Amino acid sequence: MKITWLGHSAFVIEDGKKVLVDPFITGNDASPVKPDDVKCDLIAVTHGHGDHLGDAIFIGKRKNVPIVAIYELAEYINSKGANGIGMNFGGTLDYKGIKISMVPALHSSGISESKFSHDGGLPAGFVIELNGKRVYHAGDTGLFGDMKLIGEIYHPDVALLPVGGLFTMDTKLATIAAKWIRPKFVIPMHYSTWPPIKANPEEMREELEKEGIKLLVLKPGESFQF
Ligand code: NI
Ligand code: MN
Repeated sequence: MKITWLGHSAFVIEDGKKVLVDPFITGNDASPVKPDDVKCDLIAVTHGHGDHLGDAIFIGKRKNVPIVAIYELAEYINSKGANGIGMNFGGTLDYKGIKISMVPALHSSGISESKFSHDGGLPAGFVIELNGKRVYHAGDTGLFGDMKLIGEIYHPDVALLPVGGLFTMDTKLATIAAKWIRPKFVIPMHYSTWPPIKANPEEMREELEKEGIKLLVLKPGESFQF
């Protein structure tokens, strides 16, 4: 499995099939790609905020790729002429060998348009399974106790956790989350894109390594393969 960070919360996760998660590319100075360059079989969007929905509708329409999201957000995506596939918590979608399960996130999910927010349903995270390997993309979230259950039920090999604070967990809370989820690897995300979410994920390393969890701090455009 290969996991490529495109900056912020945007990742390409591939093992045969390719899944693009939260493609915030336009407006993200750190993004190593252009929306037109991204190839994938499925797009997954955790919630309606602009730094996650990002270029999903553009790419989905342009490349004729479906976009999986919680039901209400999928309806919005459909209303914009893309192919939204709706799902909800506890459900698993099997799309061309991609198994993607929706799990809760502790956040909000308004869709900003014309200076006010539409209801985007509830915010989510995903567990993505390709050829038996599993990645948990936590979306934007605060710390919540059911992360223990996500670890227990899905046994993710890798957890992609927001660490920037203010809108999500900071490095301290993300360290607690990682200990609850117990993945082999943690890749920090959603930090230092803008000054209010500046963070140093290296602060997590020592405590995670004591628990046998490896911290992987990627640069935008960098990949991790396992
Ligand atoms: Ni958000
Ligand atoms: Mn966000």
